[in-house]
Amino acid sequence: MSAAHEQFSGRDAAPNDLEAFWLPFTANRSFKKNPRMISGAKDMHYITPEGRKILDGAAGLWCCNAGHNRKPIVEAIQKQAAELDFSPTFQFGHPKAFQLASRIAQMAPGDLDHVFYTNSGSEAVDTALKIALAYWNARGQGQRTRLIGRERGYHGVGFGGISVGGIVNNRKFFGGLLTGVDHLPHTYNRAEQAFSVGQPEWGAHLADELERIVTLHDASTIAAVIVEPMAGSTGVLPPPKGYLERLRAICDKYGILLIFDEVISGFGRLGTAFAAERFGVQPDMICFAKAVNSGTVPMGGVIARKGIYDTFMKGPEHVIELFHGYTYSGHPLAAAAGLATLDLYREEGMFEHTKAIEQRWADAVMTLRSLPNVLDIRTLGLVAGIDLASRPDAFGQRAFDAMDKGFRDHDVMIRITGDTLALSPPLMITEAQIDELIDKVGKVIRAVA
Ligand SMILES: Cc1ncc(COP(=O)(O)O)c(C=O)c1O
Repeated sequence: MSAAHEQFSGRDAAPNDLEAFWLPFTANRSFKKNPRMISGAKDMHYITPEGRKILDGAAGLWCCNAGHNRKPIVEAIQKQAAELDFSPTFQFGHPKAFQLASRIAQMAPGDLDHVFYTNSGSEAVDTALKIALAYWNARGQGQRTRLIGRERGYHGVGFGGISVGGIVNNRKFFGGLLTGVDHLPHTYNRAEQAFSVGQPEWGAHLADELERIVTLHDASTIAAVIVEPMAGSTGVLPPPKGYLERLRAICDKYGILLIFDEVISGFGRLGTAFAAERFGVQPDMICFAKAVNSGTVPMGGVIARKGIYDTFMKGPEHVIELFHGYTYSGHPLAAAAGLATLDLYREEGMFEHTKAIEQRWADAVMTLRSLPNVLDIRTLGLVAGIDLASRPDAFGQRAFDAMDKGFRDHDVMIRITGDTLALSPPLMITEAQIDELIDKVGKVIRAVA
């Protein structure tokens, strides 16, 4: 360990040695030359070590739907840490994990009644895929092993998730991935859909590609289809009208499980508890994470339909039914934070607020359409994707500059993917803050023209 490191107490908000931390999904060398540091947060803002207030246009990383450092959530975590720090959920249990599971199951549509906890969205996805495979095994159809994802899909970074995912850079460096995976086409077509507010009219027919895939492989080999109801990390692609309904119908026709990855769309982002509710399409499993406790303590999970759970509940009662789980599944701090967060969502009517301001949000974001280099804007719920024209020979540079200048010069946090800016502020945003955010984003887009 370096001398500089030994001097550093580890408590300083501005560490003097940035080398040791290999940052995820980050240009490390560029960051370490000129870091974007955050040391505090409150409600709609991040706070830098030098005290600048940064308007959070991204809910952190699509996580902090209730806003930052909300008192009831902070207090619930503090209380829980003092009461029960950790208890295993392998063969033991603690009350709050059960309470939270019941609350989540109540919020989920139909008979999505059982919650399996993980610690992240990636683990939620891999868990759902494993449940699907084990479910068919338990039903005596173990030949159903094929998993169908979608181009441009993001399902985290586990081997299952990157295999069914469709983001090229997340796949191409990591070998052969899972075998027996196929992909639906993505649903974006700029010529047909540009500047659409809400669900685009064009594209439902793309679900019929599932018929082609079924014809190729035969339904008897296919375990599950997994899609994000609204693709988020690829740059915000709302589902075309009728698309999800058609996917559901084809899955029903061939007895294929349908998994919605709601790691981003869950917990109010689209004005309902889950996108499944908003779109009126019930999947067989929902993956969640992030906003379940407003990003405060790592937690994710899978909500499974009753029939799936019941399929496993057979055989001698002392035998484990599903050989899967994580040391921290249903961690007490995460569960306590989850209960406090769901209370806050309800007490402050945050999902209803999101629904009520959706049009206002869309109108405000669409004012950016005439700015330089804006190729397309898509909005849905409290989300927006803004495609910028790439700089010649430097894909991603313009959006990177926008994110960087936004943070340094305009006190705003925006998320980027490729040359797309993604906006997803905390759900507590006011109309005045929407205007402030869009004003800042407009300045940033001009600054990178
Ligand atoms: C749809 C979707 N699935 C899975 C994940 C992975 O979640 P995590 O980063 O918590 O593993 C994400 C993260 O953004 C996501 O958007």
